[in-house]
Amino acid sequence: MSSAASTSAPVAHNAVPPPAASAAGRSSRIAPHSHIKGLGLTADGIANPDGAGFVGQINAREACGVIVDLIKSRKFSGRALLLVGAPGTGKTALALAVSQELGSKVPFCPIVGSEVYSTEVKKTEVLAEAFRRAIGLRIKETKEIYEGEVTELTPTESENPLSGYGKTVSHVVIGLKTVKGTKQLRMDPTVYEAILKEKIVVGDVIYVEHQTGAVKRVGRSDAYASAYDLESETYVPLPKGDVHKRKELVQDVTLGDLDAANARPQGGQDIMSVMGSLVKSGRTEITDKLRREVNKVVQGYVDQGVAEVVPGVVFIDEVHMLDIECFTYLNALLESPMAPTVILATNRGNSLVRGTSDIVSPHGIPVDLLDRCMIVKTDTYTRDQIGRVVQLRANVEGLRLGEGVLERLAGEGEKASLRYALQLLTPASILARLGGRTQIEVEDIGEMNELFLDAKTSAGMIEENGGFLGGR
Ligand SMILES: Nc1ncnc2c1ncn2[C@@H]1O[C@H](COP(=O)(O)OP(=O)(O)OP(=O)(O)O)[C@@H](O)[C@H]1O
Ligand SMILES: [Mg+2]
Repeated sequence: MSSAASTSAPVAHNAVPPPAASAAGRSSRIAPHSHIKGLGLTADGIANPDGAGFVGQINAREACGVIVDLIKSRKFSGRALLLVGAPGTGKTALALAVSQELGSKVPFCPIVGSEVYSTEVKKTEVLAEAFRRAIGLRIKETKEIYEGEVTELTPTESENPLSGYGKTVSHVVIGLKTVKGTKQLRMDPTVYEAILKEKIVVGDVIYVEHQTGAVKRVGRSDAYASAYDLESETYVPLPKGDVHKRKELVQDVTLGDLDAANARPQGGQDIMSVMGSLVKSGRTEITDKLRREVNKVVQGYVDQGVAEVVPGVVFIDEVHMLDIECFTYLNALLESPMAPTVILATNRGNSLVRGTSDIVSPHGIPVDLLDRCMIVKTDTYTRDQIGRVVQLRANVEGLRLGEGVLERLAGEGEKASLRYALQLLTPASILARLGGRTQIEVEDIGEMNELFLDAKTSAGMIEENGGFLGGR
């Protein structure tokens, strides 16, 4: 060990606590679709009755399975998948499942129709940006790197001759271990900054790029796998070979990332450029000229074989919110040479196309766009299926249901909608807790019904009284 390593100071940062299975991690799993893990199809594309968190909806799931195959074999670009069906029948869930089936390497860019209405950015610009974010670029580079498991992390401080206040890090000593051997490196303070930013601690597997000093955390060494029971951690084996080696690195970026990076001037370290980038990081438009330039550079990389284009998926939920200008622009985008796959979803039947005064068309989508779509319809659920989804959600949210509760909720769901039944779960659990019970009982659901109305009941009451003003 070097002398730097034997100082006692470094313990402080070595003690950065691992990201424990915190409340934040847990609550994100309680998002409305967190029980959906995929389409739940067999290898032949047949839907299991209940699979990957999906209940029923067999036809729609199998249809989406076909689309996934088409996307994977790159035969679906320039076309769109349209999901239609009543509210709460799982259209958004299906789109998410499609993205999960495609894997995390395929870019997936979800937006909601109304997102295009911004006061700062043109509607068409929002769409164009979403399309750019859905086209990935896989860049392969051979780089000289230092790779290994961190065995030691020791910053050495020295008096700063310039500021006079406190000390600054003059260099950092990093010990790296691979299967073949270990190596101790003396690195620049900028590397130390990067290490702090990536929250690297002893036991992580990292690599440092030789030329740029960029530090990347690969994961935690699997020697530590039993030490903590972390769900969010990825464990990786100890790297093979020497610590110092040449390695092919694969980076995934989207065209949207490249546009944004090139639109923002590369600032220096001084305070003025930092301030400048604060203001400029707001939503500003990226010009077509810039996009064309980025395309040219990308095309160059592709021709050299350095990069590969990975077309992804744009998902536009509530697509009836788009107006006629957006729809015509969508047509154009769909036919551009580098188009991602487009998934649209809507719960409208015949309705007026936004931005027109007289064009009524199915799903509120002009017929020329409709013509480019493959349409998948979601069916409404039976009482039994609603019960199964409710049970799934209760498991995910960690709620226990008393006797008869499931039947009661399924009944509510059948009367109102699946979503209403799911929405009753959490408040009912609060009522149960207030009542000093650990599981939800039928009476909690009864009380919920006194406190809250479902959409149909509420609408029915308005009709009876002719509105809240008593029909005046
Ligand atoms: N077949 C299913 N299996 C499991 N969960 C489902 C199923 N269908 C819907 N859900 C769940 O029900 C809830 C409502 O579904 P979702 O939001 O996908 O409906 P939607 O069709 O998008 O409705 P809207 O038209 O109102 O947007 C979600 O929490 C979803 O995960
Ligand atoms: Mg939806």
